[in-house]
Amino acid sequence: MRATVSDLPLVLDGVSLQVGATTILAGLSLSITPGAPTLIVGPNGSGKTSLLRLMMGLAAPTAGRVSWGGRTGSKPVRRAILFQRPVMLRRTAAANVAYALSQAGTPRNERAGRAAALLERVGLSDLGQRPARKLSGGEQQRLALARALARDPEILLLDEPTASLDPAATRGVEEIVLMAAQSGIKIVMASHDLGQVRRLAGEVMFMVRGSLRERAAAADFLDRPSTPEATAFLRGDLVI
Ligand SMILES: Nc1ncnc2c1ncn2[C@@H]1O[C@H](COP(=O)(O)OP(=O)(O)O)[C@@H](O)[C@H]1O
Ligand SMILES: [Mg+2]
Repeated sequence: MRATVSDLPLVLDGVSLQVGATTILAGLSLSITPGAPTLIVGPNGSGKTSLLRLMMGLAAPTAGRVSWGGRTGSKPVRRAILFQRPVMLRRTAAANVAYALSQAGTPRNERAGRAAALLERVGLSDLGQRPARKLSGGEQQRLALARALARDPEILLLDEPTASLDPAATRGVEEIVLMAAQSGIKIVMASHDLGQVRRLAGEVMFMVRGSLRERAAAADFLDRPSTPEATAFLRGDLVI
């Protein structure tokens, strides 16, 4: 039904983001194409969240251009974003997914069936009738993934989705992310957990002070970083 509209490649062309006198992102040119997950890595305040918001189209650059499948200012039909803390509707888990399906244009008579399938995909089949806000942090994040998948995205943007989760819940989220990647969805995910980078990343984009300092295959970045900042960051030094 939407086969002719694509949000890939996602291209940033000379993109900068300025708020008042502060430069948050400076002169980014990059392209996101189908492939293994891209992990955005960098110290706090380096611009990861701002970059993901631009990639989603939630914010406009103050200079340069963002385009999706060659189009600018396009409606986000084939992309979705997940934040560190999901905001759930005050309804059941199933109703949250059904609402996302309605937003994505799924016909009413297909929503219940598709919602059930999505809940199963994220391991929440038994919790469909629970109030979403009563779910644990990890369950809510998996529900947020189900809502994002309801959009049938080509690109899934994730902003530190496991930052407030314990290891078991983190694993649950990572498994869904990997499954989504294997099904062909392009994952772009901010993380400051180097173990997570090792587990998930095909490639790494390393940000420092609003600039893209390094972009490399994950193994190369982790084992042979090419900048002093990345070397320091990987060593656990403070990089400001
Ligand atoms: N709306 C805003 N107004 C002013 N400064 C902002 C705004 N959003 C982000 N910043 C600043 O931009 C920098 C990058 O922030 P952010 O994108 O959240 O980085 P990260 O996600 O890597 O921690 C930070 O210094 C932050 O304080
Ligand atoms: Mg952030």
